[in-house]
Amino acid sequence: MFITRHLYLTGFRGTGKTSVAARLSAAWAVATIDLDDVIETNAGKSIREIFSSGGESHFRDLETEALRVVAAGKPSIVSLGGGAILRAENRELIESTGIRVWLDATPEEICDRVLADASTTERRPALTELSQREEIHRLMAQRRDLYQASADHHVDTTGKSVDEVAKLVMEAV
Ligand code: S3P
Repeated sequence: MFITRHLYLTGFRGTGKTSVAARLSAAWAVATIDLDDVIETNAGKSIREIFSSGGESHFRDLETEALRVVAAGKPSIVSLGGGAILRAENRELIESTGIRVWLDATPEEICDRVLADASTTERRPALTELSQREEIHRLMAQRRDLYQASADHHVDTTGKSVDEVAKLVMEAV
């Protein structure tokens, strides 16, 4: 398939953005870009190291910088970090350069997925002093309106497999 604009996958961690992007990439033969990977490559550091050396605001600066470059590049399937929609500048950039699909799930399901997969926790530093379960509930409540406002399409992934979600995304766009 030939795409003329980016396809941005947004949503909280644990909603399957990276796995769904890989399925779409295979189905359409379109390149996929994981914004967290771009940030790590540019910085030569892991996300965890970026957070521990410069804090969240430094990470957000690198995220915006990476997004600017990706947004200006060849149309791709772009998997965004869960917090990439926090800055108005980023929201404007994705709205003007692509179609935005919000992968959603209930906080309970996200907790189950994140807690079941140690690699998810290892890669993402805590953003609050709260327990992981409380942090997920708190941040999802805080971000829900921003995900909503940054979406052309909403796909509820609760109880669905990666294949089912990829199919719903393909039908939606
Ligand atoms: C973050 C989500 C992570 C990563 C960073 C911050 C967030 O990406 O960008 O740890 O603020 O929700 P994923 O959504 O890919 O886990």
